[in-house]
Amino acid sequence: MKIAILTSGGDSAGMNAVVRAAVKTGILRGCETWVVREGYEGLVRGNTGDSPPAHKDLPQLADGVDTQFVDNLRFGDGDLLKNGLGDYAGTKGRSLKGRYIVRVGWDDVRYWLAEGGTLIGTARSAAFRTHEGRLSAAHNMIKEGIDALMVCGGDGSLTGADIFRSEWPSLVDELKSLGRVTESQATRHAHLKIVGLVGSIDNDMSMTDLTIGAPTALQRICEAIDNINSTAFSHSRAFVLEVMGRHCGWLALLAGVAGGADFIFIPEKPPKSPWEDEMCAAISHHREVGKRKTIVIIAEGAHDHELNPIRADYVKDVLTERLGLDTRVTTLGHTQRGGRPCAWDRILPTLQGIEAIEALLEATPETPSYMIGVQENSITRVPLMEAVATTKAVSTAIEAKDFATAMSLRDPEFCE
Ligand code: F6P
Repeated sequence: MKIAILTSGGDSAGMNAVVRAAVKTGILRGCETWVVREGYEGLVRGNTGDSPPAHKDLPQLADGVDTQFVDNLRFGDGDLLKNGLGDYAGTKGRSLKGRYIVRVGWDDVRYWLAEGGTLIGTARSAAFRTHEGRLSAAHNMIKEGIDALMVCGGDGSLTGADIFRSEWPSLVDELKSLGRVTESQATRHAHLKIVGLVGSIDNDMSMTDLTIGAPTALQRICEAIDNINSTAFSHSRAFVLEVMGRHCGWLALLAGVAGGADFIFIPEKPPKSPWEDEMCAAISHHREVGKRKTIVIIAEGAHDHELNPIRADYVKDVLTERLGLDTRVTTLGHTQRGGRPCAWDRILPTLQGIEAIEALLEATPETPSYMIGVQENSITRVPLMEAVATTKAVSTAIEAKDFATAMSLRDPEFCE
C-alpha cells in the first residue's frame, strides 16, 4: 500500500512525531510511505515540476518556500535532503521545487520527534475547498499511485478529509470521463482509504479527550502565567490574558486552574450578565483575603450570553475603573503554539500514528474512515464523520445560545 501523510491547518507541536511514527510503522508493515508538503495545498498542486499549477486560482506560496523546506531539514549533523528526503523520488540532493508529493524513508524522519511545528509544511488551503481543487488533488494522488491518505489537522482539516472521501468515487468517475485517468487507474483507485489524527492546540474535537499539541500549548501558557505572576505580584497588579483556542475554552480553563487565575471566560459557559459585577465581586473577595495579584484569562472565542465578544481591553477598563487595579493586557498569541513538544505530545502522536497505519491496513470499502483519538488513556478509533458532525454541533449550539447543549457535547465533566 502507498500511504501519503499530510499535516493541515494550524501547526501544532507533535505533528512531526505523527509523521515519524507513521513513516516508521508504514515501512515496518511493508508500505511505501510518502509525505505531502504544504497540506492539502500540496495535494492540489501535485508533482508539476516547473510547469504552472493546474488550478488557475491557486494562491502562490511565498517565494523560496522550497529553499526554506530544505533548510528546515538541516539538523546539526546532517542535511536530510541529501541523506534521505527525496531519495526515492529521484530528487536526492536537488530542490523539491514543483514536487509536493514525495516518497520518504526511515532516515528522512530521524530527529523529528522533538521538533516543533510541522517540517512537511502546512497551509489553510482555499483551493481544496473548491470542487476543482479536490478534483486536482484526486488526480495527483492517482498519478502517484497513492492508495491511502493520513491527515493530521484540526476540525476544519478533518472535515475536508471527510468530504474528500465521500466525494472520491464521483471524482474518480469525473477524471475518467475527462480522460485524465485510465480505466485501470480508476479501478485500482475506486476507493480512498483515509484516516484522521487531530493535530490542534485547541483541544476542540469531539470524541477524543486530547488533541495533539494541546498539552504543549497548555504548558506554554502556564509558563507565561508564571512569568507574568512575578510582575503581578511585585506591583500588586492585575493582568488580563487572552489565550488561543478558537471556539473552545479548554486552554483557558485548564491554564486558569494550573496558573491560579481569579476569573476565566470560556465560550461554552458565558458568565451571566451583569458579569462585570460577578467578576468584580470575585476579585474583590480574593484581594480581601490577601491576594496581591489578579489574573483574568479570556479564551479568544469567549462572549457573553448574547454572544457579544468579551474584549480584553474592556475587562481591563472594568478592573481599573471599578476596583482601582493597575491593570495590563497580554495577548499570548503564537508563542502558545510553537516550540518543542512536551513529553505527552511525543507519546500521544507516536501511539496514534502507529494506530493510524493499522487502521489503514485494515480498512475496507465498507468500513468508515476513522479518526484516531484517545479516551480514558486508551488509543481509540471513532468514525471520522461522527466526530466531525459532533464537533460542528457544539459550534451550532453556541451560535443558537444553547450553552447547556454545547457543554454536554463538549465534555460535561470538563465544563462543570
Ligand atoms: O486552531 C489553532 C489556532 O492557533 C487557534 O487557536 C487560533 O484561533 C488560530 O489557530 C490562529 O490562526 P492563525 O495562525 O492562522 O492566525
